[in-house]
Amino acid sequence: MSQIENQEHSSEYAPVPIPHSEVRRSDVSPKQAKYQQRLISLLFGLSMLCAVIFVVAYVQIPIDETVSIPFLGTWSKMNTILGLSFGLGSFFIGAGVIQWAKQLMSHREMVQDRHPLRSPDDAREDAIAQFQQGAQESTFATQPILRRSLIGAMALFPIPLVMLLRDLGPLPGDKLFNTMWRPGMRVVMDVTSAPIRPSDIPIGGIVSAMPDGLPEVQEHDGNLNERAKSVVLLVRLNPDDIVSQQNPEGEASWDYEGVLCFSKICPHVGCPIALYEQRTHHLLCPCHQSTFDLADSGRVVFGPAARDLPQLPITVDKDGYIIARNGFAEPVGPSFWERA
Ligand code: FES
Repeated sequence: MSQIENQEHSSEYAPVPIPHSEVRRSDVSPKQAKYQQRLISLLFGLSMLCAVIFVVAYVQIPIDETVSIPFLGTWSKMNTILGLSFGLGSFFIGAGVIQWAKQLMSHREMVQDRHPLRSPDDAREDAIAQFQQGAQESTFATQPILRRSLIGAMALFPIPLVMLLRDLGPLPGDKLFNTMWRPGMRVVMDVTSAPIRPSDIPIGGIVSAMPDGLPEVQEHDGNLNERAKSVVLLVRLNPDDIVSQQNPEGEASWDYEGVLCFSKICPHVGCPIALYEQRTHHLLCPCHQSTFDLADSGRVVFGPAARDLPQLPITVDKDGYIIARNGFAEPVGPSFWERA
């Protein structure tokens, strides 16, 4: 639309005077322009350096290494460097672009005329007439029962969607701390409930197991929560291959004659794990490939799991069957609540 047409629409739009552009030093001095060029490329170069630091830190720094910052406390070294390098990298790009726009790009002032947003009166009357005619023909105005029931349906429609949000919570609190494992409880075969002696498992063998009495608890509770929390794996290693013996109480180690017991639930997002590689003693979660070293207290050696596989300390009872020496010392299952 031309400027003449705009002026016909309304005389209240007075022409805006264009301010004179300020003459920048970089406009008149090639030396200053060169200096600005260098400064801006330096800012972009610093941003590139930050990206390199980010990648190196991500690959090189162990995830559990910490750094102490006076008055602020102890932080993850890796996260601190990742945050700083990413933040500074973004800052340098932004600063470079702003400097480029302010110092080297054209800064000629321009004015774009605007026309009134209000439609002409005849168009407005026509729209209102069409709307009223539509309301009549749709019977929306003349059928109060239909109109009210539609409004009621629309008002209640979002409620099921809001209810679905409950699936996001509540946080599990201490529910995952409490499994049905108790001191002296027998570790029995999954499905058959047969008690297990260490000699039933050959070296390199692995079996799925559960606490004695789990089927009765399930029958009584009518849900699968206990099974989901309490299932375990028994694996037998050559005792010489066990590189770290869990022994926080200064008592006997957590294995019995090379038999180790671990939660079967992946601490990433809770898939059941059972892919065991005998040669490396690694247990692989099929969902996202978290890998745990069973010879080293279930330590995470690969993948997204944020913590080690919980281990259950075991021994044998007077009949020689495997029993729990205690419950789990840490929560089983996914770790999301720790980050809440
Ligand atoms: S659930 Fe096991 S790696 Fe994701």
